[in-house]
Amino acid sequence: MKLEAEKIQMASQTSHLKWKITVLDEIGSTSDYVRDLGKQGAPEGWVVFAEFQTKGRGRREKTWKALPGRDLMFSVLLRPRSEPSRWPRITTLAALAICKGISNELPISPQIKWPNDIYIQGKKVCGILAETLSTPSGACVVLGIGVNVNSLDFDPEIQSTATSLSLMIEGGKRVLDRNLLAGAILMALDVELSRMEDDQFPAAMEEVRAQSWLIGRTIRGSVDGSDFFGRVTDLDPEGHLIVILSDGTLADLSSAENIREVICDGVGSLGFPLK
Ligand code: BTN
Repeated sequence: MKLEAEKIQMASQTSHLKWKITVLDEIGSTSDYVRDLGKQGAPEGWVVFAEFQTKGRGRREKTWKALPGRDLMFSVLLRPRSEPSRWPRITTLAALAICKGISNELPISPQIKWPNDIYIQGKKVCGILAETLSTPSGACVVLGIGVNVNSLDFDPEIQSTATSLSLMIEGGKRVLDRNLLAGAILMALDVELSRMEDDQFPAAMEEVRAQSWLIGRTIRGSVDGSDFFGRVTDLDPEGHLIVILSDGTLADLSSAENIREVICDGVGSLGFPLK
C-alpha cells in the first residue's frame, strides 16, 4: 500500500505540534527538501515523506538507501522554543518516540543504540539525523528519520548489521502498514518532543536508559578520530554516554562514531578493570 498523507494524518492525531504532512513519490532527500521549506519560512510541523530518495543522507556523509515503496523516510521541521543548548535533546527524545511508536503499533520492543540508531535484537532498523540550520525566520531543526519497515534485503556492507520490522516480526512474510506506523511514530514524536525542558527531560531520560541497548556492553568507538575501548556504564542526565575506559578512567561522551560491541570471552579478560 502506498503512503497517503490523509491516512498518516488520521493515524497521528496530536495536540502539541500540528503536523502538516506531504508525501512525495521521489525526491533527492526529504531532509534537503524540508531544509528548503525552513529557509522559506515554513512553520514548525511540516513533515515530508518520500516513497524513494535518490540522494538519501545518513550521518557522517554516508548514504541512506532504500528501494521504492517499502520503508519510511521522512523529515520533520521543528522550530524549538527551548534554549539552543537543549536542542541535542531532540535526537534522544526522537529515539524514544520512535521506539514507542513502533511498540504501540507492533508486537516488538525496539532499543535505542546511542546516539541515533534504533535496534531490534542487535540490528539496526532505524537511523535518525537531526540537523540545525539558521533561516531568516530563526534557527530550526530538520529531523530526518529512516525506518526499515518492509525491506527484505540490504546492501552487502550493511547486510550483517541491518534488519527491518517485517523481517523481525514474521520473517518478512507480512507486509506492514506504513501509514499506520508513520502515524504512530508522529503521535509519539509529538508527545516526546514536549519533554525538552528541565522539568520533564529527566523523566524522559529514565525511559531512555531503560531502553538503552548500549548500557552494560563493552564497545569500541572513536571520538574525533581517536579510538577508544571500554564498557558503557550509563547515560548522564543530558543523554551523554558514560564509558569506563580501558585505563579505568570515566569518559562522558556527547558524541562518538563507529560504536560497535566487542564480545569478550569473560569479563576482565581484556585486561582492564570492569566494575
Ligand atoms: C543514519 O543512520 O545515519 C541516519 C539516517 C537518516 C536517514 C533519513 S531518511 C529520511 C531523511 N532524509 C535523508 O536524506 N536522511 C534522513
